[in-house]
Amino acid sequence: MTVLDLFKLTDKKALVTGGAKGIGRKINEGLLEAGVESLIFCGRGRHGSLEEEQIRLKSLWPSRDIRGIACDISKESDIHSLIDQIRDLKTLDILVNNAGVTWAASTLDQTLKSWHRTIDTNLTGTFLMCRSVIQELMVANDNGGSIINIASILALKGIEEIAQIGYSASKSGLLGLTRQLAVEFASYGIRANVICPGFIEGDSMAEIFTKEGSPIRETLIDMIPLRRFVSENDMQGIVLFLASDASSYITGQTIALGGGLTVSL
Ligand SMILES: NC(=O)c1ccc[n+]([C@@H]2O[C@H](COP(=O)([O-])OP(=O)(O)OC[C@H]3O[C@@H](n4cnc5c(N)ncnc54)[C@H](OP(=O)(O)O)[C@@H]3O)[C@@H](O)[C@H]2O)c1
Repeated sequence: MTVLDLFKLTDKKALVTGGAKGIGRKINEGLLEAGVESLIFCGRGRHGSLEEEQIRLKSLWPSRDIRGIACDISKESDIHSLIDQIRDLKTLDILVNNAGVTWAASTLDQTLKSWHRTIDTNLTGTFLMCRSVIQELMVANDNGGSIINIASILALKGIEEIAQIGYSASKSGLLGLTRQLAVEFASYGIRANVICPGFIEGDSMAEIFTKEGSPIRETLIDMIPLRRFVSENDMQGIVLFLASDASSYITGQTIALGGGLTVSL
């Protein structure tokens, strides 16, 4: 086996939440390029996005098993239904909990309703998905599995410019959740790690920059030692590393993808 073989995902089966849009689409592509045989992705299925993305990916990788399935991760019944629809896979090797919602609000502006919505999706939804996938599809897997949770740099640092109190709290919760999963399920060969990306270049950030006015972009970039935002390739690379055997001795870790933001004064 060569060192590059460690990164191959040939014959692996993966589930990516929130995979029909944004970073999730790039994560899907990265996993398929690395050889994933079955790729399941989910979202709330609004505006036909799941079908469109399934058709797009199938046209690029026609021989692979690719399925976009409607599932609101904050609803336990939706998760049970999703598991029922992929039970034929018998096992799952990779779970990427990427689905999430952002809610820009400072502490005094965050309503209880928007707080619950954020926590219900980002934290409770990830918990529900992990619990079902582990129980139904990972503990039975002789090869164990890799769970990758997508948190945020805001799980590690506070921010004045774009306050998101509920979002920060929900993403911080993922750090503890991930550590606990890693310890509880290590004996099954199941690893769990969490990525804390800084601001990612893409549609959702573009919206925030437009709303807030353009100077915020330069202010944020000036804070980052590498002087740029996270690229889609940066996300694909770290997910591939954690999904693959290249990281087989790494579990329970919080990985800052912050261009040096977390280590600078
Ligand atoms: N963009 C950034 O700068 C940045 C930085 C750090 C961390 N992150 C994190 O990275 C992840 C992806 O971000 P993104 O920028 O790609 O966001 P995005 O473009 O808004 O996409 C979010 C995805 O999550 C899905 N989703 C939302 N609520 C859901 C629910 N209840 N059930 C199932 N799926 C749901 C959405 O699908 P539907 O709308 O179809 O449901 C969509 O596919 C998020 O967890 C985000 O917090 C993003």
